[in-house]
Amino acid sequence: MKTEILSNTAEDLNRAAAIIGNGGLVVFPTETVYGLGADATNEEAVKAIYTAKGRPSDNPLIIHISDITDADKYCFTNSIFYLLAESFMPGPITVVLPAKDIVPLVTRGGLDTVGIRCPENKIAADFIRRCGVPIAAPSANLSGSPSPTNFYHVFMDMNDRVDAVINGGDCDVGIESTIVKVEDDSVTLLRPGKITVEDLESIGLRVKIADAVKNVLKEGDKVLSPGMKYKHYAPKAPLVLYDGSIDLLVKHIEASGKHNVAVITYDEDVEYINSRLPNADIFCFGKKEDEKTHAHLLFKLLRDTDRKNYDMVYAPLPGDVGIGLALYNRMIRAAAHNIVKL
Ligand code: TXA
Ligand code: MG
Repeated sequence: MKTEILSNTAEDLNRAAAIIGNGGLVVFPTETVYGLGADATNEEAVKAIYTAKGRPSDNPLIIHISDITDADKYCFTNSIFYLLAESFMPGPITVVLPAKDIVPLVTRGGLDTVGIRCPENKIAADFIRRCGVPIAAPSANLSGSPSPTNFYHVFMDMNDRVDAVINGGDCDVGIESTIVKVEDDSVTLLRPGKITVEDLESIGLRVKIADAVKNVLKEGDKVLSPGMKYKHYAPKAPLVLYDGSIDLLVKHIEASGKHNVAVITYDEDVEYINSRLPNADIFCFGKKEDEKTHAHLLFKLLRDTDRKNYDMVYAPLPGDVGIGLALYNRMIRAAAHNIVKL
C-alpha cells in the first residue's frame, strides 16, 4: 500500500482521522515513541496492526485516549487510577485496569485487563480527539526492533505497511511509557519509564516491581506483561554492556583483537576512547549524569549502529534507579543480558 505522509495541520489531522474511521492504520508521534494506531474498537483494524508490525497476537495493545474522563468507558477505574491521572496524565504513563467488554479481546491480547494511556504530545492528543474513538497503538517499529523515536526510523520500518504517517519530528522522552498495574491498594511496575518508581512513591503509592523489569525472562517463566517475554530492541551486531572504568573497557577491547567495533559512551569519555582506539566508531550518549538525554538517544543510537556491520557494539551498563531503571530494562534486553564485568 502507498503510505501518505501527513503533517500536523488541521487538514492533515482530519485526513488521518478519516483513515482511522475507515478502519485504516495511522502512525502518529507521541512524547515517548511513535505509535502504530487503529480504532481500538474495530477488530479488523486492530488485526491489521499485528500484521503490519509482525507482532504475536497474544501481546496486548495499549489504548490511547485524549480525555481522561473517557477512561471509564473502557475500563473499571478506581481511586488509585484517579490519583495517578491527577499526578501524571496527560503524560508518559500507562495504567492497566480490568477491561470493559467494549474493548475487543483482540485489542487486549485475550486478557481481562487493558492498558490506558493519555499522551501529552499535542499532535497525538489532537489526532485522537479528531478520531472520536480510542486508538490502539503499539510502538511503530517492526517487532523486535528498537521503538522509533523520529520520522526517519518510522519511515524505514513502516513505509508501504500503513495508510499514513503523521510526521511529528523527534520524540521528546525517547523510551516508552511507564506501565503500572493497579491492584487493590498498591501498583505493580510492569515497565519502567520516565515516570519513575520514586515519582510513584512520592504520591503515596506502594510500588511493587515485577521480576521481569530487572531480568530477561527465560522460556516458561511466569509473566505479568506479555511483551516482556519477547526479544526486544536488538541491534544487528551483538551488544555488550560494560560495567567498569573506561580504561578497563579499552584494555578489554584491545585484548579481544576486534577492530570493527562501535562504542556508545558518555561525552566525557569520547576523547580518551578516541585516542586509545582510533579505529573504533564512537556514538555519544550525552553527559554522564544526564539520564534524560540517555533515554532520549538510546533507541536512535541502537539503530545508528545498524548502519555498519560491526563485530561488536559496546555500551555502558546504566544504574538502576530513577530513569536509570528504564534504561537498564531496555538495555539488558537489547544486549540479551550480555554484561561484561571489567
Ligand atoms: O509509550 C508507549 O507506551 C508507546 C506509545 C505508542 O504509546 N506504546 C507502546 O506499546 O510501547 P507497545 O505495544 O510497544 O508496548 C506495550 C507493552 C507490551 O509489552 C504489552 O505486553 C504491555 O504493554 N501491555 C499492554 N496491555 C497490557 C495489559 N493489559 N497487561 C499487561 N501488559 C500489557
Ligand atoms: Mg513496543
